[in-house]
Amino acid sequence: RPGAQEWLPRGRAVHDVEALDRAAHDCHGCELWADATQVVFSRGPHDARLALVGEQPGDHEDREGEPFVGPAGRLLDDALDAAGLAADDVYLTNAVKHFRFEQRGGRRLHKSPDVAHVRACLPWLTAEVAAVGPRVVVAMGATAGRAVLGRPVRVTAERGRVLDLGDAEPASPFSPGAPGGGGRSEPSDGARLPRPTDAPRVVLTTHPSALLRVRDRAQREAAFAALVDDLRLAADAAD
Ligand code: URA
Ligand code: SF4
Repeated sequence: RPGAQEWLPRGRAVHDVEALDRAAHDCHGCELWADATQVVFSRGPHDARLALVGEQPGDHEDREGEPFVGPAGRLLDDALDAAGLAADDVYLTNAVKHFRFEQRGGRRLHKSPDVAHVRACLPWLTAEVAAVGPRVVVAMGATAGRAVLGRPVRVTAERGRVLDLGDAEPASPFSPGAPGGGGRSEPSDGARLPRPTDAPRVVLTTHPSALLRVRDRAQREAAFAALVDDLRLAADAAD
């Protein structure tokens, strides 16, 4: 598998989210492009202080070409709202940019991406985080956590605090020492304002889709409250 790297735009365009988005539409960095309707890149301001990373687009997102526009997106909107954030103020993206599914009769059932898909797609996430330069990246669920931190994660054990990338996570594409990563990058003409730190900090939380699967109402409310707490923590750290 070649990975997405060779589809990244050259030169200054790699710092431009719109150029990245356009270029991603041609990506054949893994086999997931073949069965999906289209690439689903990101939405939200290109200078957001807070970036939220999900797993991969779902059925709705695949059809509409926008991330978090289905049921998980509505739940995320509610959680952002409860945390005092507007969905329009955060940058929303996914670890993997094409919908992976299994066809069952007339239905397309979500299938989690493999580690190889996450790895193949990582150049996009690395480039967009460098271009946006958020202060905090919220990784929602284990797939996003693995992509951002560069190692397997256990969300339940690591949520609820702000993680530093610094020396602790050399395998993260966003840590200052990462090859080809290193958090923010400055275009050669210095057009971008200097950023206060070198790498974003990270908050791990549950994926909103996981909440949709919780049947018990009290458990679901507790899970929602925990998601809101994590988003609030991230928002405070990004301030
Ligand atoms: N789940 C995700 O991880 N991302 C989306 O865009 C939608 C659902
Ligand atoms: Fe490229 Fe990512 Fe789509 Fe694979 S999932 S084809 S790496 S954009």
